[in-house]
Amino acid sequence: MTAGLVGRSIGRRALALAAMLAGIALALALGMSSVRAQQAPSSSVRPPPGASIPGGREVVQPERPGNYDVELWKKVREGLNGQVSIPDKKAGQLVQSDGEAWRNFRNGPLPRDGLWAMLAVVVVLAAFFLLRGRIRIEHGWAGRTITRFSDLERFGHWLLASSFIILALTGLNVLYGRYALLPLIGAEAFSRISIAAKWLHDYVAFAFMAGLALTFVVWLRHNFPTWRDVVWLAKGGGMFVKGSHPPAWKFNAGQKILFWLIMLGGLSLSLSGIALLFPFQTALFAKTFAILNLLGFHLPTQLTPLQEMQYASSWHSIVALALVVVIIGHIYIGTLGMQGAFSAMGTGQVDVNWAKEHHSLWAEREIERMEEVAAAETAAARPAPAE
Ligand code: HEM
Repeated sequence: MTAGLVGRSIGRRALALAAMLAGIALALALGMSSVRAQQAPSSSVRPPPGASIPGGREVVQPERPGNYDVELWKKVREGLNGQVSIPDKKAGQLVQSDGEAWRNFRNGPLPRDGLWAMLAVVVVLAAFFLLRGRIRIEHGWAGRTITRFSDLERFGHWLLASSFIILALTGLNVLYGRYALLPLIGAEAFSRISIAAKWLHDYVAFAFMAGLALTFVVWLRHNFPTWRDVVWLAKGGGMFVKGSHPPAWKFNAGQKILFWLIMLGGLSLSLSGIALLFPFQTALFAKTFAILNLLGFHLPTQLTPLQEMQYASSWHSIVALALVVVIIGHIYIGTLGMQGAFSAMGTGQVDVNWAKEHHSLWAEREIERMEEVAAAETAAARPAPAE
């Protein structure tokens, strides 16, 4: 009886011990598998070892996981679009690979070539100044002036010019500030200046657009090409030979080219600027590319909103730098390069001899008109003969 009881009790304890051991084994097994599950790479998001991520850094990944999906990662890396249920559908794209290309262009060829172009125009102008010198009024100052630009024309010019200069300086700060200014003034001051410059850039853009529209309206009629422009261009505008003054109306061929470069460049700059000011609201480039494709180009017309923004950013900078280069030349000729030119935009008056040399057709007509007005005034002032 006793022996039977003892035997049953040992049997129950052995059973309990076995159950406990089994429980511990199960818990350990579950625990390990959950740790492994946490360590295991998610096949859809983990890049293969050595892959680079947008930004150019290398993924440091010593262990090569066994179960990543190479094909899937490749597609994700190439910009595969997934689906998301949140309103921002752009989030469906895990990796936007064009961002890397945009960033490389933005930090490489764009500022580098832009800087070369600006330096090149300064060098060319300096060489021109050394060789040709200041273009002087050959017959000397006449001492009499004629009106070259009305108040409205000058207001439009200075609205356009001052806003462009502010936009150029604040825009150049975005491209070159961290290399040129930051080391000179330190991070704190550079940060303050850059924040102010960004605000200025965004708001002054509207003054630029207004100046562009105004000058377009007041000067359009003077900027249609004529055969005189062909002659003017063939003679290099008389810029390289002293005593050569090809005839020109109010604007010569060089000025007409400048006018159209500024109008078309300014329009393109404004549209791409608006696309940047109001992100993801426009599809400017897909539409432009579709039109260009009609002319035989083969440009992509299915662009994602992010690609639209990248094109807008790159194009805006390219056009801006090109216009800065052109305007450096314009400012040179309007100030240092040509005697008597600045007063046209300063007071609105130019010396008669300057006008006859550089815009002979326009000057002759204006002088004729002035003489007619003067003659009419003299006639009106003369006392009527007694009857
Ligand atoms: C300090 C800067 C500038 C100076 C000193 C200056 C000077 C001048 C002068 C003297 C003229 C009249 C030329 C003539 O009588 O034939 C002129 C015309 C003109 N300027 Fe400017 N300008 C400046 C900046 C700008 C800027 C930034 C723009 C546009 C973004 C611009 C656009 C024009 C245009 C479209 C004309 C009419 C076409 C021409 O004469 O070339 N100017 N400027």
